[in-house]
Amino acid sequence: MKAIILAGGTGSRLRPITHTGPKQLIPVANKPVLEYAIEDLKNVEIREIGIVLGNSGCDEIQNLIGNGEEYGVDITYILQGNPLGLAHAVGCARDFVDGEDFVMYLGDNILKTGICDLVESFRNNTYGAGIAIQKVENPHRFGIVEVDSDGNIIELIEKPSDPATNLALIGIYVFSPVVFDAIDRLEPSSRGELEITDAIQYILDDGYKIDTHIVTGWWKDTGKPEDILEANRLILDDKNLEINGHIEDGAETYGRIELADSSIIEGGAVVRGPVSIAKHTTIKAGAYVGPYTSIGPNSVLRNTHIENSVVIGDSTITASGRIVDSLIGRHTNIKSSTNHLPEGRRLIVGERSHLKL
Ligand code: DAU
Repeated sequence: MKAIILAGGTGSRLRPITHTGPKQLIPVANKPVLEYAIEDLKNVEIREIGIVLGNSGCDEIQNLIGNGEEYGVDITYILQGNPLGLAHAVGCARDFVDGEDFVMYLGDNILKTGICDLVESFRNNTYGAGIAIQKVENPHRFGIVEVDSDGNIIELIEKPSDPATNLALIGIYVFSPVVFDAIDRLEPSSRGELEITDAIQYILDDGYKIDTHIVTGWWKDTGKPEDILEANRLILDDKNLEINGHIEDGAETYGRIELADSSIIEGGAVVRGPVSIAKHTTIKAGAYVGPYTSIGPNSVLRNTHIENSVVIGDSTITASGRIVDSLIGRHTNIKSSTNHLPEGRRLIVGERSHLKL
């Protein structure tokens, strides 16, 4: 069995962060979302992985993941270009898949329990497709599955405006090569995309069995900033956090903390876990890093109070006051204003930023 990870798309709901990098590389607990997918695939003994790339972010992804050697897998890159839909992306991977069964993993999804049950069940039976589903509160944001009282699928619909159920397709699928026959017959949906949800409906209509798994552990589609923050909270709750860096005398630390070996919590700083601090980062006197925060590499925090936030890295934050529920992009400098009266906030803010003052 092979696998493809979809890492194209536009990431429009994560702008401005995605103006300068693909959403699949946004770190959650200081690890890019895409790496969680690679780990899940490796855990089910899949070594041959195709990463489907869009128009932007290709270099960043290839520079980070390379040929996969570092992860113990073999990576092939497949160019999709324009984001014409998930089924179009799969179609681009036809030569790579080369007649084998394969897992399709959406590169912006993270799930707690991994993909063992779904993949093992598919390996041991004959199915046209395998899907993973979970109840959600906002079904209009997802592909939706309608099932009868015996659990048989009646219909699959992509992002219905008036969803008949709250059972959503989560972003991990397993396919036999029959999916390509279905993709060949697809027409663009009302939003102009070739929908994988419609392809699964065709597989069902063609009389193939669909394996359906209810996922009980948490799952996050990290499409929006609040999803990234929630995924960060969930991972920090589960992850084994280790201190390898230096905590100076006079620093106050509480709870579970991950501190990379080249990082320092200086005297006079307060860190209350769960918190992850990546390499070459210094938390200086007067800084408070509160629960559910990840601070990326090469950053300095002084005098500031921050919690429930993700700082992607290469940033300096010295502003007094509290920063909460924030996703802060790379190479950011946040400092206190030296303005005298009248007081004001001086902002140099990129396109499509979101500020709550
Ligand atoms: O997260 C689960 C949901 O994912 C499912 O419930 C939906 O049925 C499914 O359509 C999908 O919906 P999203 O709106 O979340 O898909 P999104 O456009 O965010 O794309 C998912 C991943 O696939 C993301 O990593 C970008 C990538 N992608 C997307 C498109 C449209 C591509 O590589 N190529 C594409 O053409």
